[in-house]
Amino acid sequence: MSLLNRIKDKNPQTVQEIHKQQPRPQDQQQNSSGRTVVVQEGQKKFNQKSSEQTEKQNKYRELKRILHNQILQELKETDDIDAIIPKIDEMAIDIIKENDQFKGSIDRKKVVEEIMNDLTGFGPINPLLLDEDVSEVMVNGPNQVYCERKGRLELTNISFRDNEHVLHVIEKIVAPIGRRIDESSPMVDARLPDGSRVNAIIPPLALNGPTITIRKFAKDPFVIDDLIHFKTLTQEMATFLDACVKARLNIFVSGGTGSGKTTTLNVLSNFIPNDERIVTIEDAAELQLGQEHVVSLESRPPNIEGKGGISIRDLVRNSLRMRPDRVVIGEVRGAEALDMLQAMNTGHDGSLATGHSNSPRDMIARLETMVLFAGVELPVKAIREQIAGAIDVIIQQSRLKDGTRKIVKITEVQGLEGDIIVLQDIFTFVQEGIKENGKIAGRLVPTGVRPKFYDQLENSGITIPPNVFINEGEWEA
Ligand SMILES: Nc1ncnc2c1ncn2[C@@H]1O[C@H](COP(=O)(O)OP(=O)(O)O)[C@@H](O)[C@H]1O
Ligand SMILES: [Mg+2]
Repeated sequence: MSLLNRIKDKNPQTVQEIHKQQPRPQDQQQNSSGRTVVVQEGQKKFNQKSSEQTEKQNKYRELKRILHNQILQELKETDDIDAIIPKIDEMAIDIIKENDQFKGSIDRKKVVEEIMNDLTGFGPINPLLLDEDVSEVMVNGPNQVYCERKGRLELTNISFRDNEHVLHVIEKIVAPIGRRIDESSPMVDARLPDGSRVNAIIPPLALNGPTITIRKFAKDPFVIDDLIHFKTLTQEMATFLDACVKARLNIFVSGGTGSGKTTTLNVLSNFIPNDERIVTIEDAAELQLGQEHVVSLESRPPNIEGKGGISIRDLVRNSLRMRPDRVVIGEVRGAEALDMLQAMNTGHDGSLATGHSNSPRDMIARLETMVLFAGVELPVKAIREQIAGAIDVIIQQSRLKDGTRKIVKITEVQGLEGDIIVLQDIFTFVQEGIKENGKIAGRLVPTGVRPKFYDQLENSGITIPPNVFINEGEWEA
């Protein structure tokens, strides 16, 4: 069904629903707390105030209803929503002029904005999508909407009318890209036109009601100076990582969900010289590289019959036949680990990837497990040899309790000693306490150890000032 038809289809019902709508639980709570007022005078005032409020709300709904009807009327004559949108505000002005009841107190802008959000955007969450400070939006059923603002989770006062309303927004998101959500496919991944990633899951799988999670696409992706400014890493660490990328070391960014792995991977990828051919491989394209010569590949989930899926592993294998100078893999989480390690060990150096894990040591252990997924019978020692030979640097990223993202470790993978992979931290984050404002205090410090690959860096004509490994002066986090 086209967007237009859906609006036509849904709106009459919508208007009635708005009309029927009961005060939201928040409002009711206010009322019941009002009852505790003992002084009679206060009670009267309160009652007066709340009845004024209800009256205002009713007027507000009435204006919205009339406006809705007029828009529907117009839509009967023309099918072009875009032509109507600029006229909505004028229509509202006219309605207010013609109806005495709306004179004075009504907030026209708010009514018009809400209607526009429903017509053109994604309903009640539209303001969050437009707000540049908001990085994620989480709808847990109609009455609970969270957002992440500047790294912190916040409960908003946004709500949907009901489950139908949330479903309607989900449909609006997934329909343009040819996906659907219903009982037979109750989970869906999609992307907004601006590239933001969306996941939706509905009842009976989601018990809260239809649930939407949106990871917003950074309009201007962060660059290294942003990360330094956020104190995710120091200037010295940045200098070091820039050199590692240019020297074609294989680098793995490890961290939890939302710790900033992909962002760091993006920043690191932008250190790759412009004259190299870069192939990126992701589940859902998030990387935004500034270089000219970039080929982006995206995996595809199987269809309902379980057919037609293309995995990250398929893409990694394919990419090696594409004459890449660099392969950048969004997230390694399964059998592709084996192909990636083999590629890194056979001349495709300078590769970058991320993986989900809590420490560099844990990342190694997980890679071992992932290689086993590939279904090749390899002795553990052989797997470790592969890992130690392939990966040069692990960057551990973490989202701290105060919401900040930090590179808490830059660790060199030095090699295999006996059965053990030797790791050496080059930089670490030392937490020193919690400040009064709740921020975590600490320092990002070099351990003082120069990496074994320092000579490799120098051989590639890259010099790092030695004080990068010892300077502790300006490491305030
Ligand atoms: N260093 C950082 N400082 C502040 N915010 C960040 C940083 N890195 C990422 N973010 C924000 O955190 C969210 C998750 O980042 P992302 O890189 O996608 O994490 P991951 O790939 O680990 O899941 C995004 O909204 C992003 O804008
Ligand atoms: Mg990611």
